[in-house]
Amino acid sequence: MSQAFRFGDKSVPAVSPEALGDPTFTRDYGLKYAYVTGAMANGIASEALVEAVAKAGMLGFFGSAGLSIERVTAAIDRLQASLGNIPHGFNLIHSPSEQDLEAAVVELYIKKGVRLVEASAYLGLTAHVVRYRLHGIRRGADGTVITPNRIIAKASRVEVVRKFFSPAPEAILKELLAKGQITQEQAALAKEIPVAQDATAEADSGGHTDNRPLVTMLPSFMALRDQLQAEFGYASPLRVGAAGGISTPAAAAAAFAMGAAYVLTGSVNQACVESGSCDAVRAMLAQAEQADVAMAPAADMFEMGVKVQVLKRGTMFAMRAAKLYEVYNANASMDAIPAPVKTALERDLFKAPLETIWAQTREFFLKRDPREAQRGDADPKHRMALVFRWYLGLASRWANAGEPSRRLDYQVWCGPAMGAFNEWARGSFLAEPAERRAVVVGLNILVGAAYLARLNILRLQGARLAPELQRFAPGTLDRLQDCLGRERHPA
Ligand SMILES: Cc1cc2nc3c(=O)[nH]c(=O)nc-3n(C[C@H](O)[C@H](O)[C@H](O)COP(=O)(O)O)c2cc1C
Repeated sequence: MSQAFRFGDKSVPAVSPEALGDPTFTRDYGLKYAYVTGAMANGIASEALVEAVAKAGMLGFFGSAGLSIERVTAAIDRLQASLGNIPHGFNLIHSPSEQDLEAAVVELYIKKGVRLVEASAYLGLTAHVVRYRLHGIRRGADGTVITPNRIIAKASRVEVVRKFFSPAPEAILKELLAKGQITQEQAALAKEIPVAQDATAEADSGGHTDNRPLVTMLPSFMALRDQLQAEFGYASPLRVGAAGGISTPAAAAAAFAMGAAYVLTGSVNQACVESGSCDAVRAMLAQAEQADVAMAPAADMFEMGVKVQVLKRGTMFAMRAAKLYEVYNANASMDAIPAPVKTALERDLFKAPLETIWAQTREFFLKRDPREAQRGDADPKHRMALVFRWYLGLASRWANAGEPSRRLDYQVWCGPAMGAFNEWARGSFLAEPAERRAVVVGLNILVGAAYLARLNILRLQGARLAPELQRFAPGTLDRLQDCLGRERHPA
């Protein structure tokens, strides 16, 4: 990769994987590669995953969503001890139905000195996310605005990114001032910076997704970036990264060619040995083809009809969850569910009477959020939603834990990127789940993307290339290190 080469009368300059993406992104975050592994809930983006990629010069986000404050605290302690100043981050997820939890996570991140978060699932800004960003903001001796806390926002809609790319709104600043969480001077400084300097355009992906194509989204995000940068004239220019469907060298090459400042992967990392999932799920993921995914009702926003993308092959979750949503819409309460339907649900999904599940769910909410338990007592339709969400919520925990009696109920968030990776890896060592290490996967994607970028330059000069040259085959770490000039990558 490191030398220019000639091909007949055509020549190709060197393209190294480090050169892909926006050099200010890698410089600002202290990375070697413009490669990010996105947060995956319930610790699926585990400490081990974050450690592995961080040590190789990539950026990993720990999957804090769905975890207790105690569990997130343990992750912060471990990563701060094992990584020290090596860049890494944590997820800050918007929880519309659990505002107190979002506030507690922000409090924790501030207390523990977490300096970088991936903010996701936001529909609009909350005082919590703005508070995180503005904590410690001050004017440096040279006049620049110093912001110790940084946010990489992730969204699939430009309306949302517009808010993150703008300075914090006046109403939220007033609220933070009133609570004494920022000073007048900090409120004034907030007008000079965006809430997030970086935003990831998230196309059709695993988990929550609008199923939009990256090729249509990325240009709109970049146009918005340019428009807002011109409007606000920030000292540190805005940047846009790409996610959704990226798991192969060709997909990464395409995203970088379109101008992505960085690429972010998700589904493919769940299939790696470091993920917080289990071997049974990794084996299922290794079998997936691109069409083996489906949209299924989401546990967190079930009543609103929000869906998540999940693996379809080898599990009945998508079908069973869709049935629950249908039953929820058709009935005013659990008592109104026709007897044969109720019997089938109790036998196949709940393995207990619905009333027993409600008693357990009620107990759970009395400890976690008593208001929900009260709403369930008062409103039979809400009670049904909470019971159905019991199944949806546990289905992903059964998958992560590899619960053998619940194999058919595994909820595995997954996008078409998984099938694309399997197709590319077929017949190579990477077809084997045990060989899938996040850094080996990431380096293959990057080294392969650099190779394909070079090839494209030849193609643009009119060179005709043999088919075997047009594909970058999976390489072992040794082979990749040869390509990279034998540098050592811990993997
Ligand atoms: C198993 C799984 C869990 C995820 N959980 C979260 C999450 O908790 N927070 C978040 O911001 N994104 C989450 N995502 C999205 C990823 O961080 C990433 O944006 C997305 O997977 C990229 O698209 P891809 O799946 O096509 O690679 C999840 C994705 C997967 C596959």
